[in-house]
Amino acid sequence: MNSIKACIFDLDGVIVDTAVYHYKAWKRLANSLGFDFTEEQNEKLKGVSRVRSLELILQWGGITKTAAEQEVLATEKNTWYVEMINHMKPDEILPGAKEFVQSCRDAGIKTALGSASKNSMMILEKIGIVDLFDAIIDGNKVSKAKPDPEVFLKGAEAVGVAPADCVVFEDAIAGIQAAIAGGMKAVGIGSPEVLTEANLVISGLDKMSIEKLDEL
Ligand code: BG6
Ligand code: MG
Repeated sequence: MNSIKACIFDLDGVIVDTAVYHYKAWKRLANSLGFDFTEEQNEKLKGVSRVRSLELILQWGGITKTAAEQEVLATEKNTWYVEMINHMKPDEILPGAKEFVQSCRDAGIKTALGSASKNSMMILEKIGIVDLFDAIIDGNKVSKAKPDPEVFLKGAEAVGVAPADCVVFEDAIAGIQAAIAGGMKAVGIGSPEVLTEANLVISGLDKMSIEKLDEL
Protein backbone atom coordinates (compact mmCIF):
# COMPACT_ATOMS: atom_id res chain seq x y z
CA MET A 1 0.00 0.00 0.00
CA ASN A 2 1.47 3.29 -1.10
CA SER A 3 1.48 5.86 1.70
CA ILE A 4 2.60 8.75 -0.52
CA LYS A 5 -0.38 11.06 -0.97
CA ALA A 6 1.34 14.14 -2.42
CA CYS A 7 4.34 14.86 -4.63
CA ILE A 8 5.88 18.30 -4.34
CA PHE A 9 8.14 19.48 -7.14
CA ASP A 10 10.86 22.08 -7.22
CA LEU A 11 10.77 23.96 -10.55
CA ASP A 12 14.27 25.06 -11.62
CA GLY A 13 16.39 21.98 -12.33
CA VAL A 14 13.51 19.53 -11.86
CA ILE A 15 10.77 20.58 -14.28
CA VAL A 16 12.83 22.97 -16.44
CA ASP A 17 16.49 23.81 -16.84
CA THR A 18 16.56 27.54 -16.20
CA ALA A 19 20.09 27.52 -14.72
CA VAL A 20 21.50 28.64 -18.07
CA TYR A 21 19.26 31.74 -18.09
CA HIS A 22 20.13 32.58 -14.49
CA TYR A 23 23.79 32.15 -15.45
CA LYS A 24 23.60 34.49 -18.44
CA ALA A 25 21.78 37.19 -16.46
CA TRP A 26 24.13 37.01 -13.43
CA LYS A 27 27.17 36.97 -15.72
CA ARG A 28 25.93 40.09 -17.49
CA LEU A 29 25.49 41.78 -14.11
CA ALA A 30 28.92 40.71 -12.84
CA ASN A 31 30.57 41.85 -16.09
CA SER A 32 28.82 45.23 -15.83
CA LEU A 33 30.41 45.56 -12.39
CA GLY A 34 33.85 44.71 -13.77
CA PHE A 35 34.39 41.07 -12.79
CA ASP A 36 33.60 37.64 -14.21
CA PHE A 37 31.19 34.96 -13.07
CA THR A 38 31.85 31.30 -13.86
CA GLU A 39 29.57 28.31 -14.46
CA GLU A 40 31.10 26.69 -11.37
CA GLN A 41 29.95 29.66 -9.29
CA ASN A 42 26.52 29.44 -10.91
CA GLU A 43 26.27 25.82 -9.71
CA LYS A 44 26.54 27.07 -6.14
CA LEU A 45 23.46 29.26 -6.65
CA LYS A 46 21.05 26.40 -7.38
CA GLY A 47 18.09 26.73 -5.05
CA VAL A 48 19.52 29.92 -3.55
CA SER A 49 17.20 32.95 -3.41
CA ARG A 50 17.74 35.96 -5.67
CA VAL A 51 18.82 38.24 -2.80
CA ARG A 52 21.26 35.71 -1.35
CA SER A 53 22.63 34.89 -4.82
CA LEU A 54 23.49 38.56 -5.36
CA GLU A 55 25.18 38.77 -1.96
CA LEU A 56 27.38 35.80 -2.86
CA ILE A 57 28.23 37.16 -6.32
CA LEU A 58 29.23 40.54 -4.90
CA GLN A 59 31.34 38.73 -2.31
CA TRP A 60 33.08 36.66 -5.02
CA GLY A 61 33.71 39.85 -7.01
CA GLY A 62 35.09 41.58 -3.92
CA ILE A 63 32.53 44.37 -4.14
CA THR A 64 30.45 46.02 -1.43
CA LYS A 65 27.08 47.61 -2.19
CA THR A 66 24.47 49.23 0.04
CA ALA A 67 21.10 47.55 0.54
CA ALA A 68 19.46 50.08 -1.80
CA GLU A 69 22.08 49.46 -4.50
CA GLN A 70 21.63 45.71 -4.12
CA GLU A 71 17.92 46.06 -4.71
CA VAL A 72 18.58 47.93 -7.97
CA LEU A 73 21.09 45.27 -9.08
CA ALA A 74 18.76 42.37 -8.26
CA THR A 75 15.97 44.05 -10.23
CA GLU A 76 18.30 44.63 -13.17
CA LYS A 77 19.33 40.97 -13.21
CA ASN A 78 15.71 39.89 -12.98
CA THR A 79 14.71 42.09 -15.92
CA TRP A 80 17.33 40.34 -18.09
CA TYR A 81 16.28 36.94 -16.76
CA VAL A 82 12.59 37.60 -17.47
CA GLU A 83 13.43 38.74 -21.02
CA MET A 84 14.91 35.27 -21.59
CA ILE A 85 12.27 33.13 -19.89
CA ASN A 86 9.64 35.10 -21.77
CA HIS A 87 10.72 33.09 -24.82
CA MET A 88 10.45 29.68 -23.13
CA LYS A 89 8.37 27.06 -24.94
CA PRO A 90 6.75 23.74 -23.86
CA ASP A 91 9.61 21.81 -25.49
CA GLU A 92 11.89 23.08 -22.70
CA ILE A 93 10.15 20.88 -20.12
CA LEU A 94 12.76 18.34 -18.94
CA PRO A 95 12.31 14.74 -20.19
CA GLY A 96 9.63 12.83 -18.34
CA ALA A 97 8.60 15.71 -16.08
CA LYS A 98 5.18 16.36 -17.53
CA GLU A 99 4.47 12.64 -17.86
CA PHE A 100 5.41 11.86 -14.26
CA VAL A 101 3.37 14.73 -12.77
CA GLN A 102 0.42 13.58 -14.87
CA SER A 103 0.87 9.97 -13.74
CA CYS A 104 0.73 11.15 -10.10
CA ARG A 105 -2.59 12.81 -10.80
CA ASP A 106 -3.87 9.71 -12.59
CA ALA A 107 -2.94 7.66 -9.50
CA GLY A 108 -4.88 10.02 -7.22
CA ILE A 109 -1.72 11.57 -5.76
CA LYS A 110 -1.87 15.34 -5.15
CA THR A 111 0.70 17.50 -6.93
CA ALA A 112 2.22 20.78 -5.77
CA LEU A 113 4.97 23.10 -6.89
CA GLY A 114 7.43 24.31 -4.23
CA SER A 115 9.90 26.78 -5.71
CA ALA A 116 12.01 29.68 -4.45
CA SER A 117 11.47 31.49 -7.75
CA LYS A 118 9.23 34.53 -7.88
CA ASN A 119 8.99 33.88 -11.63
CA SER A 120 7.46 30.40 -11.21
CA MET A 121 4.02 31.31 -12.51
CA MET A 122 5.38 32.93 -15.64
CA ILE A 123 7.53 29.89 -16.42
CA LEU A 124 4.65 27.44 -15.83
CA GLU A 125 2.46 29.53 -18.15
CA LYS A 126 5.12 29.66 -20.87
CA ILE A 127 5.62 25.88 -20.80
CA GLY A 128 1.87 25.30 -20.49
CA ILE A 129 1.61 23.18 -17.33
CA VAL A 130 -0.07 25.44 -14.75
CA ASP A 131 -3.05 23.06 -14.60
CA LEU A 132 -0.91 20.05 -13.67
CA PHE A 133 -0.52 21.31 -10.10
CA ASP A 134 -3.14 21.24 -7.34
CA ALA A 135 -1.20 23.95 -5.51
CA ILE A 136 1.56 26.38 -6.47
CA ILE A 137 3.80 27.75 -3.74
CA ASP A 138 6.50 30.08 -5.07
CA GLY A 139 8.95 32.69 -3.87
CA ASN A 140 6.16 35.24 -3.50
CA LYS A 141 4.40 33.11 -0.89
CA VAL A 142 7.27 32.33 1.47
CA SER A 143 9.43 34.38 3.79
CA LYS A 144 12.07 31.78 4.64
CA ALA A 145 14.42 30.33 2.04
CA LYS A 146 15.34 26.63 1.70
CA PRO A 147 16.77 24.79 3.72
CA ASP A 148 13.87 26.13 5.80
CA PRO A 149 10.93 23.79 5.06
CA GLU A 150 8.34 26.61 4.78
CA VAL A 151 7.78 26.31 1.02
CA PHE A 152 7.14 22.56 1.18
CA LEU A 153 5.05 22.70 4.38
CA LYS A 154 2.83 25.29 2.71
CA GLY A 155 2.55 23.02 -0.32
CA ALA A 156 1.53 20.06 1.85
CA GLU A 157 -0.99 22.19 3.70
CA ALA A 158 -2.45 23.56 0.47
CA VAL A 159 -3.20 20.05 -0.81
CA GLY A 160 -4.34 18.82 2.62
CA VAL A 161 -1.70 16.09 3.08
CA ALA A 162 0.43 15.42 6.19
CA PRO A 163 4.17 16.04 5.65
CA ALA A 164 4.99 12.38 6.37
CA ASP A 165 2.87 11.40 3.36
CA CYS A 166 4.66 13.80 1.00
CA VAL A 167 7.69 13.33 -1.22
CA VAL A 168 9.71 16.25 -2.54
CA PHE A 169 11.63 16.25 -5.85
CA GLU A 170 14.66 18.54 -5.67
CA ASP A 171 17.95 19.22 -7.48
CA ALA A 172 19.53 21.41 -4.79
CA ILE A 173 21.17 20.30 -1.53
CA ALA A 174 19.30 23.05 0.36
CA GLY A 175 16.04 21.75 -1.10
CA ILE A 176 16.69 18.17 0.02
CA GLN A 177 17.51 19.51 3.49
CA ALA A 178 14.28 21.54 3.47
CA ALA A 179 12.23 18.44 2.64
CA ILE A 180 13.86 16.42 5.42
CA ALA A 181 13.48 19.30 7.89
CA GLY A 182 9.78 19.31 7.03
CA GLY A 183 9.45 15.60 7.82
CA MET A 184 9.05 14.60 4.17
CA LYS A 185 10.74 12.08 1.89
CA ALA A 186 13.18 13.50 -0.66
CA VAL A 187 14.06 12.38 -4.17
CA GLY A 188 17.18 14.06 -5.53
CA ILE A 189 17.46 14.96 -9.19
CA GLY A 190 21.15 14.91 -10.05
CA SER A 191 24.17 13.10 -8.68
CA PRO A 192 24.13 10.74 -5.63
CA GLU A 193 27.60 12.06 -4.67
CA VAL A 194 26.15 15.55 -4.24
CA LEU A 195 22.62 14.85 -2.98
CA THR A 196 23.76 12.46 -0.25
CA GLU A 197 20.86 13.09 2.13
CA ALA A 198 18.10 12.15 -0.35
CA ASN A 199 16.14 8.88 0.04
CA LEU A 200 16.68 8.20 -3.67
CA VAL A 201 18.65 10.00 -6.38
CA ILE A 202 17.74 9.82 -10.08
CA SER A 203 19.10 11.67 -13.10
CA GLY A 204 15.69 13.05 -14.07
CA LEU A 205 11.95 12.54 -13.77
CA ASP A 206 12.09 10.29 -16.86
CA LYS A 207 13.60 7.73 -14.46
CA MET A 208 10.74 8.04 -11.94
CA SER A 209 7.57 5.97 -11.71
CA ILE A 210 4.60 5.62 -9.36
CA GLU A 211 5.94 2.15 -8.42
CA LYS A 212 9.22 3.68 -7.22
CA LEU A 213 7.30 5.83 -4.71
CA ASP A 214 6.64 2.57 -2.79
CA GLU A 215 10.36 2.05 -2.28
CA LEU A 216 10.95 5.36 -0.49
C1 BG6 B 1 15.60 28.88 -7.58
C2 BG6 B 1 16.82 28.84 -8.47
O1 BG6 B 1 14.66 27.95 -8.03
O2 BG6 B 1 15.00 30.19 -7.62
C3 BG6 B 1 17.79 29.93 -8.05
O3 BG6 B 1 17.44 27.58 -8.37
C4 BG6 B 1 17.09 31.30 -8.07
O4 BG6 B 1 18.90 29.94 -8.93
C5 BG6 B 1 15.86 31.25 -7.17
O5 BG6 B 1 17.97 32.32 -7.61
C6 BG6 B 1 15.06 32.56 -7.19
O6 BG6 B 1 14.54 32.75 -8.47
P1 BG6 B 1 13.92 34.11 -9.01
O7 BG6 B 1 13.29 33.72 -10.33
O8 BG6 B 1 12.88 34.56 -8.02
O9 BG6 B 1 15.03 35.09 -9.15
MG1 MG C 1 16.04 23.69 -8.20
